[in-house]
Amino acid sequence: MQFFIDSADVDLIAELAETGLVDGVTTNPTLIAKQGRPFLEAIAAICALVEGPVSAEVAATEAAQMLAEGARLAQIAPNVVVKLPLTFEGLKATRAFAEQGIMTNVTLCFSATQALLAAKAGATFVSPFVGRLDDHGAEGTELLSDIRTIFDQYEFDTEILAASLRHPAHVKAAALAGADAATLPPPVFRDLVKHPLTDRGLDQFLSDWAKSGQTIL
Ligand code: E4P
Repeated sequence: MQFFIDSADVDLIAELAETGLVDGVTTNPTLIAKQGRPFLEAIAAICALVEGPVSAEVAATEAAQMLAEGARLAQIAPNVVVKLPLTFEGLKATRAFAEQGIMTNVTLCFSATQALLAAKAGATFVSPFVGRLDDHGAEGTELLSDIRTIFDQYEFDTEILAASLRHPAHVKAAALAGADAATLPPPVFRDLVKHPLTDRGLDQFLSDWAKSGQTIL
C-alpha cells in the first residue's frame, strides 16, 4: 500500500519523507491556501523532495480551462499528477489527459458510480473521501470496498487513493478494503507508529539494559 502525505507544508513533508515511508503527496486548494506560498513554487518544492506522485489540483470548472491549467502543472515535474474534480467537465479533462499520458487524480469522490466514471475516463487515481462521508452520516470505508470490488470485476487499472482519512482506524480499514494508496494528514501518519505498549516495553528494555552495564559497540 502506498502512503501519501496530504499536505502542502514543504518542511513537514521533508521531515516525514526522511522516514523512507512516503510514496507521494496530495495537495488541494485549501491546503495550498493555508501555506500562503505561490502554488507552482510549492508544487515544485514538493516534487523535488518526493519522487512519487504529487497531486496538484486545477482551479477551473470547465474542461478546456482545466486542460490549460493541468498542462501548466504537468510541466513542473514528471511526477506531477493533475487533480480534477468529479464532474463531467473534470472527466472530459481526465480522458484528454489520459490520451496525452498525463497522470490524473479524480477527487471529491463520494459514490461507487462516481468512481466507476473516473475509471472509465482513464483516471490514474480516484480519491474517495472517507472522513467527509462519515461526517455526512454514511459509512466512508464501505465505499472503498465497493470500489475495489467494481474495479476488480472490470479489471480497471485506476488506483484507489483513500482520502480524507482522520485516524489510524481509517487507514486500517483502507488497507483491509484493498485501497492501493492512502493519503494521510501528517498527524495521522505520525499516529500510525504509536502504541502505548510499544512505549512502555521500550522504556523497560532500556532501563533493564542500563542495569546490565553492557554496551554493544
Ligand atoms: C485528498 O486528496 C484531499 O486533499 C483530502 O484528503 C481531504 O481531506 P479532508 O476531508 O480532511 O479535508
